[in-house]
Amino acid sequence: MTAISSPINLFEYEQLAKNHLSRMAFDYYISGAGDEVTLRDNRAAFERVKLRPRMLVDVSQINLSTSVLGQPLQLPFLIAPMAFQCLAHPEGELATAMAAAFAGVGMVLSTLSTKSLEDVAEVGSKFDHPWQWFQLYIHKDRGLTRALVEKAYAAGYKALCLTVDAPVLGQRERDRHNQFTLPSGLHLANLVNISGLEIPYEQGESGLFTYFAQQLDPALTWRDLEWLQSLSPLPLVVKGILRSDDAVRAVEYGAKAIVVSNHGGRQLDSAIASLDALREIIPAVNGRAEVLVDGGIRRGIDILKALAIGAQAVLIGRPILWGLAVGGQTGVSHVISLLQNELNVAMALMGCSKLADVDSTFLHFQ
Ligand code: FNR
Repeated sequence: MTAISSPINLFEYEQLAKNHLSRMAFDYYISGAGDEVTLRDNRAAFERVKLRPRMLVDVSQINLSTSVLGQPLQLPFLIAPMAFQCLAHPEGELATAMAAAFAGVGMVLSTLSTKSLEDVAEVGSKFDHPWQWFQLYIHKDRGLTRALVEKAYAAGYKALCLTVDAPVLGQRERDRHNQFTLPSGLHLANLVNISGLEIPYEQGESGLFTYFAQQLDPALTWRDLEWLQSLSPLPLVVKGILRSDDAVRAVEYGAKAIVVSNHGGRQLDSAIASLDALREIIPAVNGRAEVLVDGGIRRGIDILKALAIGAQAVLIGRPILWGLAVGGQTGVSHVISLLQNELNVAMALMGCSKLADVDSTFLHFQ
């Protein structure tokens, strides 16, 4: 218990998590692509933005609740889709889902989860929790993709989050050194039963890189979004947009929400920081879809900066895995509560009692 009650911020969780993870798992979780320029810049972009607080506002009551696609949230964030959570803890995605449900935050489940989408949905349903989304990777085998969508709809997921920034996997050199694969006993829980697919072991290469090259469809284009939306009534969320013209196209092709993201710096290295992209995308979308953002969010203040630019909510990635590795569900809950506390203090010091008060007048760009 001391191990998980001692970290007082998300950076300390990262330090601690290292002791709880195999080298292969820690490297997989923490790394970015190439020279990790984008990974670092995601953080730096938040540090570049400064705040202009407002004084003498009654902040005795702070309300952090909001909604995304009409679904309520107690806090303005979701847990980002992240593959292979059983590498961090035996309960994996189930523990994450439980912590999300307790806190009233959304969770996006990865196609590449190590617990099945049905089992994760069941956790959410027990709590009468507002929602979970299913993140989709489109495989070359369209029958398999269709089966995944149908299963997600039947299980009660509230949206399909299509990741569009991974036609091939980014070059993550640590995974290559480690010849990344899943340890025995861990499976692609959503795929093994319908297709027998597993992450291969390959000498001198990341098995995940090989999996993407062999299984995912690099020929995907905007037109496929029509096909995808014909498979279920679920609203479409497009994740991985970094330009305003792409954002507008996503809306034209039916996306109800967009996640501005560079995949946590794990895909195209030297891609623009997601916060910088957000500034370009918000005016272009102009309220026609909800805009979310992820990448490098580690402090409550970071969340406020994203909301002030115009994001409806944000997604939190790696820190959730650090919490999971350190303490399972309790660790994830603690990470969420640290962010919540920071957010409360930041709101009070900014002079905002509710999220609707947060706007671009609070921002200063150097
Ligand atoms: C990811 N991400 C991701 N995205 C996605 O659409 N599908 C996936 O399966 C995964 N898997 C995944 C695994 C791991 C270990 C990480 C760290 C990330 C990207 C993720 O959803 C999100 O965009 C970033 O993690 C956000 O950046 P931060 O918060 O980690 O800096």
